[in-house]
Order: sequence, then C-alpha cells, then structure tokens
Amino acid sequence: MLPRSGDEIWPTKDYSRIPYWVFTDEALYRQELDKIFYGSTWNYVGLEAEIPEWGDFKTTYVGETPIIVSRARDGGLIALVNRCGHRGAMVRRERFGNEKTHTCIYHRWCYSLEGDLIGIPFKRGVNGKGGLEKGFNEKEHGLKRLRIESFKGMMFVTFDHDMISLPDYLGPLNQEQISRIMCRPIKILGFQKQVINGNWKLYQENLRDTYHASLLHSFFVTFGLDRVTNPGGTRLDASKGHSFVFNRPDPAAADSLVNEESTKVYASEGVKADRVSLEDTWFLGFHPQYDDDMRLYLACLFPNAHYQQMNNCLNTRQMIPRGPNSFEVVWTIFGYEDDGEELAALRKHQANFIGPAGFVSMEDAEVIENMQTAFKDERHAYSVVEMGGRGPIIAESDNKVNEIPIRGFWSKYARLMDLEPTGGER
Ligand code: FES
Ligand SMILES: [Fe+2]
Repeated sequence: MLPRSGDEIWPTKDYSRIPYWVFTDEALYRQELDKIFYGSTWNYVGLEAEIPEWGDFKTTYVGETPIIVSRARDGGLIALVNRCGHRGAMVRRERFGNEKTHTCIYHRWCYSLEGDLIGIPFKRGVNGKGGLEKGFNEKEHGLKRLRIESFKGMMFVTFDHDMISLPDYLGPLNQEQISRIMCRPIKILGFQKQVINGNWKLYQENLRDTYHASLLHSFFVTFGLDRVTNPGGTRLDASKGHSFVFNRPDPAAADSLVNEESTKVYASEGVKADRVSLEDTWFLGFHPQYDDDMRLYLACLFPNAHYQQMNNCLNTRQMIPRGPNSFEVVWTIFGYEDDGEELAALRKHQANFIGPAGFVSMEDAEVIENMQTAFKDERHAYSVVEMGGRGPIIAESDNKVNEIPIRGFWSKYARLMDLEPTGGER
C-alpha cells in the first residue's frame, strides 16, 4: 500500500535517508510512470543524426509506451504512439527504417508519417457485405501524436502538451554543456544496449554519484581518468534534478599515469591505485577539441537522459524503465563528421570504456543488480546519502567525495510525485 504523504515516506527532509522499498514497490512504480514519464518531463529518445532523411524512423519507448520517431518531409520531427488505432497492435517492430507510411501487420490499417489513418482494407466489405459502417470517421482513429522537440540534435518527447519548452526545461547549465558536446555535425559510431535487473532510480543515483567513481571502478583510479585527487566537482541546475559531475586532468600525472601523492591517498584507504600499468598508453590518450581542459564528465537530465565525455569517447544514454525491478540502457556512441582517421580510431577504442562489458560501465550494472537483490524484501530500512554534507542541496561543489546530486534527484522526484515532506529541501 502506498503511503499517503511525503512525511510518511522520507525519514529526513533533506533526502539523506532513502527507504529501500521505494526501489521495489509495484504501486509506486505505476505512479512514477504516470507522474514522471507520462507527466511534466521531457524524455530523451535519441539523436537527430539517427534519422537524417525524409521517412527515416526509429522505434523506442517513453516510459513503457512504444513510440515511433520519424523525419517529416519538411525536415521536422514527428513522434507517435506505436499502437494501432484498430485493435492495438504495435505498428512498427523494426528498430530503424525508411518508409513514407506505417502499415500495421495485423489487418493492414495504414497511417501517414504524421499518424493519420489513410487506408483500411475491405473498408466497405465485399459484395456489399461486411466492412465498416458509413459513419466511421478515420480522423478519430489515427496514431496518437506526442510533442517532440530537439536541442542541438538531442530529441526529447513529452506526453504533456502544456509542458514548458525544451530549452527552458534543460536550463542554462545544460544548454551550455550540450552546445559544447554537440558543437558540430556529429557522426554516429554505434550503439550498445543492456538490460539491468534493478530499479531505474538506482541508475539515476549511480550516475550522480562522484563518490563511487574511483572506488568501484579500478580502471579509473589505476589509469588516472578519475581520482579523488584530480580537480573536479558537481553542479546542479535550479530544479536540482539535472546534474553535471566533472573531472579535470591530474596535473601531477601529466607525463605518466602515476601520481605518487594520489597513490598514497588511496593506499591510506586500503585501495591499490598502481596495481597494473600499460606498455602502450595510446588507448588512454586525449585529443583536445574544446576551449577547456575538461576530459571526463557525465550529465544527467531528469528523468532518463545522460550525455558524457570520457577523454575522446562521446556518448548519450537513454534509460527506459521496465517495471520496478528492471530497466534498459541504450548507449549511442558518436564522433564528429570531420574527425580525422587517428581520432576516429581513438574514439572507437575508447568506446570500450562503456556498455555492458565496458571497462568502467560493467561495474555499475553489477552493483545495481547486487543492491536490488540485497533489499528486495526490505520494507523499513533505508540508505544513507550524506557524503558532501546534509541540509541544503547546494548547487555547486568543488570536490568529488560527494552525494549531493543524488539528494537533488530525490528532491525533484518528490516534487513531481506530489510526495514532498513538509518543509522538504529543494
Ligand atoms: S490491430 Fe492494427 S490493423 Fe488491426
Ligand atoms: Fe560508475
């Protein structure tokens, strides 16, 4: 049974304690679909570069609802619910394609790219028998159209026709950072997909968690991509739901992968930071392309989008919920159309950082499944989220021993779910 109010859910008003049952409860999950994924949010559905030509389409999901995203004749974007107006079959089953109409496999009702119902086999029956009655109005039975907007080539869909514009939703921080990573025409290099048997909110916590990065991921600390001793920090937008966690290169390890000071810091915590090394470090290289020295960052857009730079590996992630105990991640790996041969090769090698078997990402999936198992039947206990401090959810921090963006996520979550505690931090 669902608690009636936020005061019954949260042990603290600053979201520093999260009850485990919120990751497993079926009724709460149904409410999340309605209030978050089908509510006042923009959901990431892919990159425009995936469907460049008239008639190109892709199929994906918003929440658990299948959708079709396609390119209109005038270059615009169209988003439709992928469910036939006749008796509900999924009209498109391919992941990608190019067609000027969509025809359902079941009884071949046919729709225009815009979703209008334009063809019904045996509409008037055969020899005057059967078929539809004369008053049947095709206009009422098209595919349901959804609002779609794109910012610098990242496409987002909302079920809420009164939703604020996408740029307003993203806010200045993400407008600036998306413009940075999408700074010129992009080239899709590939996709990775993974189903993770855990709750979708554990993934949102994980990607906002700078504390775990160099402790769970040996790769980061061993090769210096992310160490607590590197300069870096966290930023939150005004809503606290979107976050940006970043890491600058370690100046002391400019010429080698080893920073003795950092090795000492980790050794004092029992972590070996120098267990292995590489004979050929080309794979970890960095080809500078921007006006700053940022090498590793991960941005989270509430509720399901992420964009990331890890040295020269650029990617977006779309998270799709699949019930309270499972979700899917789609990584889209990209570079720029004008990348030279050497850089294109480096990007492909560095794509090994991410994905189901990624040198870094594989451990996130493993730990999320491990957590889901550990608290599957727990109705009373809660997690502790107070690295970086309790109380106000501060928008900027200059350290990475920090769980503040996680509390920001929960604050936005509680607001959208109408489950804020009285006087809850925002
Ligand atoms: S369900 Fe699609 S045509 Fe019948
Ligand atoms: Fe991680």
